[in-house]
Amino acid sequence: MGVNLDDVRGDLSAVLFTESQIEARIAELAAEIDRDYAGRLPLLVGILNGAVMVMADLSRALTIHCEMDWMAISSYGSGVASSGVVRILKDMNTSIVGRDVLIVEDIVDTGLTLSYLIDNLKSRNPASIEVCAGFRKPEALRSHVDVKYLGFEIPGDFVVGYGLDYAGRYRNLRGLGILAPAVYS
Ligand code: IMP
Repeated sequence: MGVNLDDVRGDLSAVLFTESQIEARIAELAAEIDRDYAGRLPLLVGILNGAVMVMADLSRALTIHCEMDWMAISSYGSGVASSGVVRILKDMNTSIVGRDVLIVEDIVDTGLTLSYLIDNLKSRNPASIEVCAGFRKPEALRSHVDVKYLGFEIPGDFVVGYGLDYAGRYRNLRGLGILAPAVYS
């Protein structure tokens, strides 16, 4: 069922996490969020397209109620290097005034996307803003973006799977791997 790591083993230079390792970590994050937001109704804001898997798994691992909305932001285009250009392609449908906003992101690389987004959302007067991200690369530490709920620290390589794509593909890979340079060179 689905695209398994073994199916695309030749396109990966390494497997970082299997589906069950990710699932276990997401469950831990959900337990923290359950505790931290007890008695509140957080608005989970997923960043399309990469965050769909984190959002689907995290939201279903929560035992508290939550609402969900989505934004789309331009970042990499179809390449493997950050363009530095951040643009809102699709905004939320929900007002966030007075809401407890939890941004759900796939991966933090340079942190450019998130720091832009956090500033933008802060100006809309939410009660609180926190970030949950599946993965974080070393480069992110220079950007001072505070990721309260982090799945895994990973190396700086270009990775695919669990929502993350290369040229639109590999998002449905069950697990996370480093894309072999031969695939994109
Ligand atoms: P940042 O603005 O440099 O932090 O980039 C964040 C966005 O770039 C993420 O939301 C992803 O969509 C994309 N991205 C960053 N690193 C990778 C990667 O290794 N594989 C696939 N997409 C990535």
